[in-house]
Amino acid sequence: MRLTLRLFSSVVQKRPFFVSTPIFYVNAAPHLGHLYSAVVADAIQRFEKLIDPNCNVLFSTGTDEHGTKIQQAASKVGQAPAEYCSSISEEYRRLFAEYNVEHTDFVRTTEDRHKKAVAHFWKELVEGGHIYKAVYSGWYSVSDESFVPEAHTREVVQHGRKVRVSAESGHEVEWTEEPNYMFRLSAFREHLQRWLKTDGVITPSKYQKQLQEQLERETYFPDISVSRPASRVHWAIRVPGDENQSIYVWLDALVNYLTVTGYPDEDAVRARGRAWPADVHVVGKDILKFHGVYWPAFLMAARLHPPRRLACHAHWTVDAVKMSKSLGNVVCPRNTPVTGDALRYFLLREGTLHSDANYSESKLINVVNSELADTLGNLVSRCCGAALNPRGEFPALHEAEAAQLARRDVAQALLTRVERLPEQCREYYSSYQFYKAVDEAIATLHACNLFFEALKPWELRKENRQRELDVVLHLALETLRVSAIVLQPVIPQLATSLLDRLLIPKDCRSWQHCETPSWRVAGAIHETKNIRGGKFLLFPRLYTDKKPAPQNKKKAAL
Ligand code: MSP
Repeated sequence: MRLTLRLFSSVVQKRPFFVSTPIFYVNAAPHLGHLYSAVVADAIQRFEKLIDPNCNVLFSTGTDEHGTKIQQAASKVGQAPAEYCSSISEEYRRLFAEYNVEHTDFVRTTEDRHKKAVAHFWKELVEGGHIYKAVYSGWYSVSDESFVPEAHTREVVQHGRKVRVSAESGHEVEWTEEPNYMFRLSAFREHLQRWLKTDGVITPSKYQKQLQEQLERETYFPDISVSRPASRVHWAIRVPGDENQSIYVWLDALVNYLTVTGYPDEDAVRARGRAWPADVHVVGKDILKFHGVYWPAFLMAARLHPPRRLACHAHWTVDAVKMSKSLGNVVCPRNTPVTGDALRYFLLREGTLHSDANYSESKLINVVNSELADTLGNLVSRCCGAALNPRGEFPALHEAEAAQLARRDVAQALLTRVERLPEQCREYYSSYQFYKAVDEAIATLHACNLFFEALKPWELRKENRQRELDVVLHLALETLRVSAIVLQPVIPQLATSLLDRLLIPKDCRSWQHCETPSWRVAGAIHETKNIRGGKFLLFPRLYTDKKPAPQNKKKAAL
């Protein structure tokens, strides 16, 4: 009992940090765009743990399983919705395990705990007087699970048929007229405008400006429908007290962020470290309106704080067209020539939050070959290998030697880069500019390769100039140590293999351990330490002339 209390209070005292991915529709198998949302959120939580190893991270993800879209997808494959949802949900779980997405909770909207949270939330909205019944008519897009104002639709000809589509998503809309429960969104316009003025509430700021402008511009800011007739949408959570109506899937889905905090059970909320408001919701730009307008309004209505921040990202395209199942141009992560960290690296290196990124297999191979295999991997092999480091050592460096070395331009350039790297990367990670952090780390490793070439350690070894060789090895190994710590949010598995190889203790891998490079530590700098010597291939090159065999894929994951 006492032990339980102690464990419990240690969780409570830790600073909570709550980051989420959107929950994924189970109407189709996951693709690269979905993985990107998850990898961005994972990198955010890994960075947070690096800078504050004591924070209590709640990292939630999961699957969005209700609604017409799912109903239709299940019937298309002749499965019962529940069975169908479980199989696709499981695919997401497996995907995240393969790509080192270390979530602490995986929520499914078909779980009882979630249904309870949604029912409670609904009652709060009703009790607050924010919901009323009305007959609703308008254009509805099943693909977007959303009503679309007439002004945001247009007529097009598809397969020789005249149809009306949403101008924003291009998905077909259909005229719907039915009794619905409505949410008084219009009452929250000013509150939302005030919330949207909060500095940095949406990152990058261009998305925040977009929403601000939209709210100012829209002369008509209507209430929204938050239920559908159960006769039409039966695969859904029923409105409490009205079996004839199903709760709108977006309201159902957004509440997942509360479900994972333990809501509405106060004991569960306390046990989970009181994680509300969420620190960051990671969302793609296609679902910004739901998270930046509807969600904060729902929360305000339920007398809860809106999220502290939304990190909004652009899309992955193929030949400049958004990857999506309906267009049939999706890239499945498992069909790429790489696994695990290599794909994470590519996604975070090439993807940015502010502009779309284009996927091509040749670009993927070029990036991982030139940066992970050549720039990083070769340096590791050289420093750890028997040719230059037969004793398997991380040799000591003395201040005087560092000062002497700094007189050479190529060494000075490297020393400066290594010293600046953690501070620069901290800034970039904090603003979710992962590509810039990676860029700095790669530039530092490049500088180290140049330094290596200029100092010619193989000649020092041949001429038995051991002390000079030690100095070169020290600097290269220190560059690798600092770079590996800094790159952990992006390539956690590769960084761990490298730090293991350098025999860096597990409790010496957080941000504070890379902020001061060895030559800034007063006095004799580091004793000579052992590393695990011998042949070490951190990341083998991929060859494009023949498709890599499955066993090569396994090796690449090392
Ligand atoms: N179920 C809703 C989210 C509810 S959250 C309360 C949903 N699901 S989704 O499966 O369609 O999308 C999930 C995430 O994947 C979104 O962040 C979306 O932006 C992202 N991506 C889907 N296709 C994408 C690309 N082609 N590129 C990058 N990310 C994109 O929306």
